[in-house]
Amino acid sequence: MNQAVITLDAALNALASANTPDELLTLANQAAALQVYARRAKLGMVAQNRCAEIRLRAERKLGQLLATTPRLHGRPKSVPVENTLPGLSDLGVPDRKISHRAQRIAAVPTREFEAYLRDAHRAEWEITTRQLLSLAERREASSSQRPTPRGRRRRSSHEGLFEGDCLDVLADQEAGSVNLIVTSPPYADARKSTYGGIPADDYADWWMPRAEEFKRVLTPDGSLIVNIKEGTEQGERSTYVLELILAMRRAGWLWTEEYVWHKRNCAPGKWPNRFRDAWERCLHFTLNREFAMYQDAVMVPTGDWAKPRLANLSEPDLNREPSASGSPFARTVANWVGRDLAYPTNVLHFATECGLVGHSAAFPEELPEFFVKLFTCEGDLVCDPFMGSGTTGVVCKRLGRRFIGIDILGRNVRLAESRIRGSKLLGAAD
Ligand SMILES: C[S@@+](CC[C@H](N)C(=O)[O-])C[C@H]1O[C@@H](n2cnc3c(N)ncnc32)[C@H](O)[C@@H]1O
Repeated sequence: MNQAVITLDAALNALASANTPDELLTLANQAAALQVYARRAKLGMVAQNRCAEIRLRAERKLGQLLATTPRLHGRPKSVPVENTLPGLSDLGVPDRKISHRAQRIAAVPTREFEAYLRDAHRAEWEITTRQLLSLAERREASSSQRPTPRGRRRRSSHEGLFEGDCLDVLADQEAGSVNLIVTSPPYADARKSTYGGIPADDYADWWMPRAEEFKRVLTPDGSLIVNIKEGTEQGERSTYVLELILAMRRAGWLWTEEYVWHKRNCAPGKWPNRFRDAWERCLHFTLNREFAMYQDAVMVPTGDWAKPRLANLSEPDLNREPSASGSPFARTVANWVGRDLAYPTNVLHFATECGLVGHSAAFPEELPEFFVKLFTCEGDLVCDPFMGSGTTGVVCKRLGRRFIGIDILGRNVRLAESRIRGSKLLGAAD
């Protein structure tokens, strides 16, 4: 680690004195190699990010230099070098892709560039060129009030539905306007052929800029529910969901609760080292300790267990002290005599979606329904930033909540549109 720090300090000094494209590119490449070394040697995100910062700064300086150097673009091979302006390769830059990327980094305003590095270091997100450029573009678009010039960001003809990356679409959403975000994002490494697939190692970095938008648009008493589940890799469970939770906490979210969705009808099967996977996580994040929650809206029938259990109450059932939370119902079993409804547990038993909704990863309506009832009132605004076939939207329409749904694939937006149009407000006449 000490050696790495010395090398990084030397690289910073070299950056200050490097003035030719060749020197800057060499420095950027060395920093990139050091970053790979830091990752492999598990030196931690701070060391990795210091390397990434040097690389970005070297590329930015290279971009600034290239933008101001008069040169020939694409010199034909037949034209002798001495008769022309220098081409890219004469400057020591092997290809146009590198030049283009460096100039895009150079075009990011200094304030945005420094803010990105500062925020990333503070939150310990991995510093990447892609993230810097996407944040800069987004900020520029929202500050100038112009529509973001991105081809894939479109409003559907159905109010509240959008096609695009939720990172871009949510940039236009008013701050503090959404009461609940309930969603099932793409799982790491899943469905690569349909929507890219995010490697488990990059998942938290991919997620956090989006979570920043979720934070901005949520009301202070709002909730975020993330239905997700880690897969297995080489015989072990992946840790990307745990890393996501830690990154969320570092970014100021409270990991308030975790609900377990028990999939009642999970497919049969046999694995050598584990049993069938019959549950998924529903992570509950909030911005504050006090948040909107309507527990009575999700009460469940007390059930048959209650009759024999409440018929023969023991001494502790009658006398037990109230719980630490102050609720006398939490622990004194006798208080439930004669009641038909009880509060549910944090284990939710729903079958997986078996209907033909046209999406391979749709969740059952009961899942968003539980959270929409628990965390919102009629008229509140609910968002599903990864809406897929629009199941959350269908539920919202039925329950009289307003809805914003986003999906990166146009065909999903069209599917959601037709499902939502076909659903009815609860109690509405045919
Ligand atoms: C697990 S599925 C959601 C399924 C949904 N809950 C349902 O019931 O149909 C995740 C969805 O996220 C979409 N998606 C992937 N990346 C996205 C992004 N960056 N922004 C918005 N949507 C995205 C995918 O196209 C996919 O439909």
